[in-house]
Amino acid sequence: GGAILAAGPAADAATLNTALHQLVDELKPMPAEVEGRTQAFELVQAVLLARWPEAKVHVFGSSANNLSICNNNDVDMTLELQHLPDAPGAKAAVVEEMGRLFMQAGVKDVLLLPKARVPVVKLVAPTTNTRIDLTVNNLLAIVNTKLLRDYSVIDPRLAQLVFVVKHWAKRRQVNDAYRGTLSSYCYVLMCIAHLQHRSPPILPCLQALPPTHIRTIGRWNCDYHDQVEGLRGYGAGNTETLGDLVWSFFEFWAWRHDFNNSVVTIRTTTPVSKAEKEWTKRVGNERHLVSIEDPFELSHDLGRTMDRQTTSVLHKEFERAAGLLRDDPEPLPKLLEPYRA
Ligand code: GTP
Ligand code: MG
Repeated sequence: GGAILAAGPAADAATLNTALHQLVDELKPMPAEVEGRTQAFELVQAVLLARWPEAKVHVFGSSANNLSICNNNDVDMTLELQHLPDAPGAKAAVVEEMGRLFMQAGVKDVLLLPKARVPVVKLVAPTTNTRIDLTVNNLLAIVNTKLLRDYSVIDPRLAQLVFVVKHWAKRRQVNDAYRGTLSSYCYVLMCIAHLQHRSPPILPCLQALPPTHIRTIGRWNCDYHDQVEGLRGYGAGNTETLGDLVWSFFEFWAWRHDFNNSVVTIRTTTPVSKAEKEWTKRVGNERHLVSIEDPFELSHDLGRTMDRQTTSVLHKEFERAAGLLRDDPEPLPKLLEPYRA
């Protein structure tokens, strides 16, 4: 792409912006849903602490970072065990034991995936129907969740943009739960990167500021600036509305981002190329067609699961969204229309 630029959306700017704010309000989770997640956490914590009294149980992902939209009954949790050896198989064994504990506790829906890249047990909490993904020592996820939450505190436009994009991705089935494209986590990183690159920027790059949160996990440096209360209003010099940002987000991913050569990153605002990461050739199932760098686990390309077909589906969805915003004076109904095969 690159050639099909447009001056701006067809819709009246104020009307589009008001409609998007109304959508964001409707996407906020209801108190009952939040309560269900809390109850699920308490159930899991009780079972795990009875077996490992010295352990900690953490919630991560959208339930813990202010970026959760409604009707998403998923909660990500991890058991932190201090003295578990790093040997492969140690986490898998704990996952298997956790599975047995929950079955003994009367949880019927227990699915074990001990051999996954991140070993996990999937549960459904019996009273609330909350779906729980439970991992072991997923310490990077705890820290990247805090990083995302810290970004969300700096400027409210991040959460608003994330809500619209997550909802769009679910409706258009370009979220990993459906046609196998990008995870919600990837979309959040794309939103942060987008706001870091506005002019003037709406978000800073927390990993490029003097570090106040100092942490190393395995071989990964997780230092960054986490004194975000002092950064509230950082983006005040930028007066772009949610409507402006939704437009520039889709227009960027449809027509400007160089999918062939560049890597999406929030770690730095200087461009990162696939060439310098050596993400240029296929290794096994990792193709690096769409490259999104994890902010801490730098060898991890979060877009690795995309293949030719899903990359093409995703790109067409970005183009569809950008085209609707450019051409349709009332674009939201079509933009958010459920995908039908
Ligand atoms: P929704 O559940 O759709 O609201 O999205 P979410 O914000 O919870 O994101 P998602 O479920 O995709 O991921 C949950 C959390 O898992 C993220 O916040 C990350 O902490 C972590 N995570 C997801 N995928 C990866 C991955 O490939 N690598 C690492 N290191 N962490 C991941
Ligand atoms: Mg989640």
